[in-house]
Amino acid sequence: MSEAAVPAPTHPTLEADIAAVLGRRSIVLVGMMGAGKSTIGRRMAARLHLPFTDADTEIETAAGMSIPDIFETHGEPYFRDGEARVIARILDNGPIVLATGGGAFMREETRNRIRDKAVSIWLKADPDVIMRRVRRRADRPLLQTADPEATVNRLLGEREPLYRNADLTIASRDVPHDRIVEECLEALHAHLIGARPTVGPTQDGLNATP
Ligand code: S3P
Repeated sequence: MSEAAVPAPTHPTLEADIAAVLGRRSIVLVGMMGAGKSTIGRRMAARLHLPFTDADTEIETAAGMSIPDIFETHGEPYFRDGEARVIARILDNGPIVLATGGGAFMREETRNRIRDKAVSIWLKADPDVIMRRVRRRADRPLLQTADPEATVNRLLGEREPLYRNADLTIASRDVPHDRIVEECLEALHAHLIGARPTVGPTQDGLNATP
């Protein structure tokens, strides 16, 4: 590939600083179905030159069947146990960027593991954004209800108090994905290292970030 074809990172030092202090800790994205955990996680991993893992995909591989089939054949408690085991194994092999399923952070044992072995980011999305996105896919067993909107609202009510325990919160909304990725990286940098040094006076005399 020619050099020109390799996308240059927007802020090379931002990514390098984060990667340098992470050690074996991973970056874990939590939040509701449709919050964009996999899309944002994959892009963040590329920026940080880290592997990306989707917990749902790992669970499907470990079980040898799809998530709807796991729910149908074995039930939700079986799925949740498998989910906790898979996430524990993944976090033992960091650093990576991990997108978790929307219910994973409800389990205390998983929250504690994530706290100990990772930096967590809650991608917080409004109900209308979630509904618009989840309508595009029919593979979420929990939303196969008569009133998916009421289900999403109920789940948000139960889950948001726990998602709030994540280290960082970023509003997931309908803006270009790269903007959310950039906000995640800036928040990670501030959390892990502190605010980035400013450079230069600008024309109006204020300092600008590079
Ligand atoms: C679930 C979310 C799904 C998947 C499963 C259960 C949940 O993952 O783990 O259908 O409980 O919210 P996504 O959040 O990636 O859709």
